[in-house]
Amino acid sequence: MASITVQPHLVLERVLTIEIVRVTERAAVSAARLRGHGKDKASDQAAVDAMRRELNNLPIDGTVVIGEGEMDEAPMLFIGEKVGNKSGPKVDIAVDPLEGTTLCAKNMPGAIATLAMADAGTLLHAPDCYMDKIAIGPGYPKGTIDLDAPADENILRLAKAKGVKPSEITAILLDRPRHADMIAAIRKVGAAVSLISDGDVAGVIHCAEPKTGIDIYLGIGGAPEGVLAAAALRCIGGQMQTRLIIDTEELHERTIKMGIKDPRKKYDIEDMVKGDCLFAATGVTTGAMLRGVMFGKDMIETETVVMRSVTGTVRKIVAEHRQLEKFHLD
Ligand code: FBP
Repeated sequence: MASITVQPHLVLERVLTIEIVRVTERAAVSAARLRGHGKDKASDQAAVDAMRRELNNLPIDGTVVIGEGEMDEAPMLFIGEKVGNKSGPKVDIAVDPLEGTTLCAKNMPGAIATLAMADAGTLLHAPDCYMDKIAIGPGYPKGTIDLDAPADENILRLAKAKGVKPSEITAILLDRPRHADMIAAIRKVGAAVSLISDGDVAGVIHCAEPKTGIDIYLGIGGAPEGVLAAAALRCIGGQMQTRLIIDTEELHERTIKMGIKDPRKKYDIEDMVKGDCLFAATGVTTGAMLRGVMFGKDMIETETVVMRSVTGTVRKIVAEHRQLEKFHLD
C-alpha cells in the first residue's frame, strides 16, 4: 500500500485546528455564565481568563499580536504577551475573547469568542483603534469594491458584478451616528441596509455566508476586529480592504512604535494576514452565524466554526461537554 507523506508542520497545524476550538469554547462558556447580567467588564474578564488558560496549554510558542490592549492597560492577553507551552511552532495570535461585550451583557444575539492563529510575523500588529472597512464575499472579480470609492458607487459596482439590481443588494453596517451619510447614500441607490448594534467580525463574515442575505460590509469598526475578520475571509474567500484611522499624534506614535511604517496604508486581506491561518469562533449568545452556549442539566453544548486557509475547510463543531468539573474552573 502506498504511504502518504504529510509535512510535519501541516500535521501540527491540523492538530491545532481542533485545539483552538477548545480555546474559544472555554472562553464562550465562561462569558455565557454572565449573559444578561449587565456586566460588560466581568463577562469580558471571564472570557479572557479562560482563553488565556487554554492558550497556555497549547503546543505553540505564541505571541499575542491582537489582544486586550497594550501591556500597560491590559494585564492579560496584552499585545506582546507570550502564550503556549513553547513546545510547538512560533505563531502570531489575534484574540477577541468576547466580541460583543454589550451583546453578552444584554443577552442579545451575536456575541462570540474568537481567535486567529498564523505563522509568526504574518498577522498585522494593529493598534487598538478604529478602522475603515469594506468587504464582500467570494466569487467576484478582484477590484469589484474599493475602500476609497463612495458607498453608493461600491453598491452599484457590486450589483453589476452580481448581475442584480441595486435593490437586491443588502449592506451591513454598525448602527452608529458616524455612518448616517453612508447609510443615506446606500439607501438612495435602492439597496437595503442591515444595522447591527455590535459585532462586526461576524458582520464581515456574513458577506461570505449566502444564507445571511448580506452582500457587503461597509463602515468604521475596531481595527483588532478587522484583522480577525480578514483571517476568516482568508480562509473562506472574499475581498476586504481597510485603513487604520489614526487621528491623534499619540496614536500615530503608537502605531509607528508597533512597526507600522505607513499608518495611512490601504490594506488588502493579504496585507493583514500574510500567510496561511486558522480562525475559530464559538457562539456566546445565539446569532446568525452560531448558536450560543446551552447550559443543560448534565452537559453544556457549544457551537463553533473553525476554518483553515490551507484547504479552505470550514467545520461547524457542536460539542456536548460532560466533564463539567473542567468548566467549574471558570
Ligand atoms: P467589544 O466587544 O470590544 O465591545 O466590540 C464590539 C464592537 O461592536 C466591534 O464588533 C466593533 O468593531 C466595535 O465594537 C465598534 O466600536 P464602537 O462601539 O466604538 O463603535
